[in-house]
Amino acid sequence: MTIFKYRGKNLYLENASIDKIAKKNPTPFYLYSLKQLEKNFYYFQNTFRKTSPLICFAVKSNPNLTILKNLQKLNSGADVVSIGELQLALKAGIQPNKIVFSGIGKTKEELDFAISKKILLINAESESEVNQISKIAKNKKCRVAISLRLNPNINANTISKISTGKKSDKFGISLEESYKIFINNIKNKNISIEGISVHIGSQIKQLSPFQKTLKVVDKFIQKLNNNKIFIKYLDLGGGMGISYLPKDTKFNLKEYAKIVDQFNQRYKLKIIFEPGRYLSANTAILVAKVIYIKKIQDRNFIILDAGMNDLMRPALYDSKHEILPIQKNKGKFNKKVEFVGPICESTDKFMTYLNYYKLKEGDLVCFTNVGAYGRSLSSNYNIRPLIAEIAINKNSFKIIRPRQKLKDLIK
Ligand SMILES: Cc1ncc(COP(=O)(O)O)c(C=O)c1O
Repeated sequence: MTIFKYRGKNLYLENASIDKIAKKNPTPFYLYSLKQLEKNFYYFQNTFRKTSPLICFAVKSNPNLTILKNLQKLNSGADVVSIGELQLALKAGIQPNKIVFSGIGKTKEELDFAISKKILLINAESESEVNQISKIAKNKKCRVAISLRLNPNINANTISKISTGKKSDKFGISLEESYKIFINNIKNKNISIEGISVHIGSQIKQLSPFQKTLKVVDKFIQKLNNNKIFIKYLDLGGGMGISYLPKDTKFNLKEYAKIVDQFNQRYKLKIIFEPGRYLSANTAILVAKVIYIKKIQDRNFIILDAGMNDLMRPALYDSKHEILPIQKNKGKFNKKVEFVGPICESTDKFMTYLNYYKLKEGDLVCFTNVGAYGRSLSSNYNIRPLIAEIAINKNSFKIIRPRQKLKDLIK
């Protein structure tokens, strides 16, 4: 599924010339296809149609209000991890009964707010959090639905920095502890534990970690059921990987859907998913300009106006994002090229290519698959304003979040 293609030498996103958009907007900027977002959502929904899950978009992957409003129109729910994300999801019109709240360090204020909004589930991640929720609910004289996030002790075989399901990871509650919490709260008038949730990591490309997780979940539910404890919800988290580079293998979503459907035949639970990357990653490119080309003995440094503060994933996780020229010039570089940003850090570097298309200073390029954890991970490091987010609108564009003003950063 690609949203961009060359027409002659020029790169287009949907039917819009990226070059023309860049003439009207200062680079760097994120450029989105809302059509692609819709396509992704329908593909996900359709693939899981037998299970008919509640799809709670992981807001952390892309907290742009327009993106959330578009997802809301498609009937998406939201997975949030802070009061800010919760407020944004509500502002986008997402109904509270389609919102789940994850995270290991929810504060009293955050829990209080979530409870007052009557969201679907708070996914609790420790006994202390369960007790805190219970205390708040008691004060409010209400009963709150929660789920427990299990730590299934599964290695997701993904980038180590985004693994969350091993017992040494800070996320979730061990199986023994979770079982104890269920038992201890059977008679609690202020909380009802209605579900369990798992999220073992992100950018997972193999099915086996998900299969292993389901096995663990299966055993756990059986143990609950044997003790006459029945749950309503099973939140399977997100984590489905995408192909960042053309040669990358694809995650088999259809096979995963079959496995989940088969699993749920027995329990008939309401399944929840929290996909982020799978829905948003390929909806955006990041357009940047070549500021300088600096030649050293064995390579050309292509110095871009986009840096690690605009696209953090390569510096944070060594992730690869393909870089395409907006206009294909004739000829190739005769040395390798290394794309770098302008930030004063050695980790501010992106891709290295042999035989890259000739570029000159002032030319435009774009990074692909940056709709997830792109703008959302960006920062003001080096006092650089957060860049604009623009969406294609027919043959033209609309700004869906303006670039920050430098004067606001130096107040
Ligand atoms: C609890 C939880 N749910 C969902 C997600 C979304 O993950 P992904 O974008 O890989 O689908 C994350 C991301 O780390 C998460 O922590």
